[in-house]
Amino acid sequence: MRRPFIAGNWKMNLNRAEAVALAKAVAERSTAVEGVELAVCPPSVYLEAVGNALKGSKVGLGAQNMYHEASGAFTGEISAAMLVDLGCRYVILGHSERRHVLGETDADVNRKVAAALKAGLTPIVCVGELLAEREAGQTSAVIRRQFDGSLAGVSAADLAKIVIAYEPVWAIGTGKVASPEQAEEVHLDLRKIMANRYNAGLAQEVRIQYGGSVKPSNAAELLSQADVDGALVGGASLKADDFFGIVAGAK
Ligand code: PGA
Repeated sequence: MRRPFIAGNWKMNLNRAEAVALAKAVAERSTAVEGVELAVCPPSVYLEAVGNALKGSKVGLGAQNMYHEASGAFTGEISAAMLVDLGCRYVILGHSERRHVLGETDADVNRKVAAALKAGLTPIVCVGELLAEREAGQTSAVIRRQFDGSLAGVSAADLAKIVIAYEPVWAIGTGKVASPEQAEEVHLDLRKIMANRYNAGLAQEVRIQYGGSVKPSNAAELLSQADVDGALVGGASLKADDFFGIVAGAK
């Protein structure tokens, strides 16, 4: 019922030629993939070039961030409409690096989610606890706070358009992947949160990706968990071989 969705978050990596070459490789190899939704999220300055390289393929284009205002005096920022204009279908919002390195709050993420939905983008909304929060037994409370704060005011109809990514901060870029059981536990928790706030049917519909040190060697086990519907992949999405090694685990 929930179609697996694997997205590559290229973060602040690659130059223009490398980004185009990787996009072409991903587009080419995607022809052999069935039943899995695919996307890549390059740095914003390469969105247009990567979008051109993906043209005609089924690989979706996503941005890594945006600003919630429609236009105006917001030096350095990019609007949802600009992303749509470049052919974006997705936008990652509330990534832990934006929350913890760039200081984004749940309220910031919430405004961005509303603007993205209004523009017709699919937000990939990230939540995840710090190591200290996990060790203090606060994982569930943190996830609930981030979910409620980031998605405040989102209607049931709009929630159905959103993808959630559970990304434990201690697993991102560290090589320390969550165990399949740890991931499944939080994904199940997220479904309970959605069932309580919305309804049980909708909670079953929304896709929840796992992110944090996903690689070909651990993807199949993570993706075989009942409530893990895909992956948001950082480091391993920078090599087409690794990215498709992960995609293979989604089948
Ligand atoms: P990683 O990053 O796969 O390099 O751990 C995941 C993410 O930040 O989305």
